Amino acid sequence: MSERELVLSVKNVTRRFPASGGRFLLANNNINLELYRGETLCIVGESGCGKSTLMRMLLSLDTPSEGEIICLGQNIAHLKGEALRQHRRHIQMVFQDPALAFNPKMKIKDILCEPLLNFGMIKKSEVDTRARQLLEMVELPGDFADRYPHNMSGGQRQRVGIARALAIEPDIVMCDEATSALDVSVQKTVIELLVKLQKEHNIAIGFICHDMALVSQMSHRAAVMYLGNIVEILPSDRIKDGALHPYTKALLGAIFDLNMDFSKKIDSIESEIPSPLDVPVGCPFQDRCDQCMEICKKENPQLIKMADGHEVACHLYTKAEKEDK
Ligand SMILES: Nc1ncnc2c1ncn2[C@@H]1O[C@H](COP(=O)(O)OP(=O)(O)OP(=O)(O)O)[C@@H](O)[C@H]1O
Ligand code: SF4
Ligand SMILES: [Mg+2]
Repeated sequence: MSERELVLSVKNVTRRFPASGGRFLLANNNINLELYRGETLCIVGESGCGKSTLMRMLLSLDTPSEGEIICLGQNIAHLKGEALRQHRRHIQMVFQDPALAFNPKMKIKDILCEPLLNFGMIKKSEVDTRARQLLEMVELPGDFADRYPHNMSGGQRQRVGIARALAIEPDIVMCDEATSALDVSVQKTVIELLVKLQKEHNIAIGFICHDMALVSQMSHRAAVMYLGNIVEILPSDRIKDGALHPYTKALLGAIFDLNMDFSKKIDSIESEIPSPLDVPVGCPFQDRCDQCMEICKKENPQLIKMADGHEVACHLYTKAEKEDK
C-alpha cells in the first residue's frame, strides 16, 4: 500500500457546529484518513454519523474547525479565491440527485462542457464534439447532447453526472450516495460503469454508501464511522469475516445478508445512538457495546494498525496485542 500514490490525506480533522445554549455539536472528531490514486474508499455508518460533513470538507464546501486536509501536497482546508478555483480541477463530485444538481434549462452538452469551458480546457466551437465523446464514455448515445435533463431517466442523468465529473480529468471523485436515488437494477449498472471508468482513468473515489453488500463489492477499503469518529478502516475483502470493531460486527451481524438499510433500526444494538450534542467521554460506542470496560469510559481509543490497510479504534485491541501476533 505504501508504494501507491497518496492523493488525499485527512489529518486530525474535527468539525464542530455551534448549537443552542452555547453548546457545540461534534459532527467529526479527530478524523485521520488516506485516499490513494486508483482506489475506492467507501465511508459507511448510520444516519447522522458525520459522513456528509466529512465529504463537504474534502470538497472544500466547508472548513474544518481543526486539522489539515492535504490534497496532492497542498493543505486545502482553508483555500479561498483563485487558489480554491484552481484546486477544484483536481476533485469533483457526483451528486445524489442529478435532477436537482443540473440546471433544467441547460442542454446536456452545455451541462457536460461547462467545467471544461470554465477552466479554458476547450473552445466553444469544440462543445458538440466533446459532449458526444463524454456521452459515449458513459455509454449513452451521442445525440443525447441536445436533450434537456428532464428528457432522460434517472439512471441516464446519473451517467451524465459521472461524465461531467470526469470531464476535466480530476484526480479524485467524491460520491455522496450517488446511486441511492436509483432503482436497484439501475444502481448496479451505474456502479459497474463507475468502477470501469475508475480503472481506465486511474482516479481515486470516495463513496458514501448505505449498502454494505455494495461496499464489499465495489470498494478497495471501507471506513466505518460512528458518532463523528472513524472506528475502523478495513480492506473490503475483510468486511465479511475480518471486521474487528464491535460496532462494525454489530452492523454486519444485523444486515449483511439483507442488503443493509441504515435508515432502519439495527436490531443487534439495543440502545439508541447518542446525540452528537452529547458525546460521552471515552469511546463513543460505550453505551451500546456489550464488551465495554472501565478504560472505555475514560479514554477514546485511537486508530491503531492491525494489518496492512486495516486499522481499528477499540480498547480490545492494543498495540501490545498487535505486536504479539
Ligand atoms: N451545517 C450544520 N449545522 C449544524 N449541524 C449540522 C450541520 N451539518 C450537519 N450537522 C449535524 O452534524 C451531524 C452529522 O451530519 P451529516 O450530514 O454529516 O451526517 P450523515 O452521516 O451524512 O447522515 P445521513 O446518512 O443521514 O446523510 C448531524 O447531527 C447533523 O445534524
Ligand atoms: S473501546 Fe470499549 S466500548 Fe468501545 S467498542 Fe471497544 S470495547 Fe466497546
Ligand atoms: Mg449524508
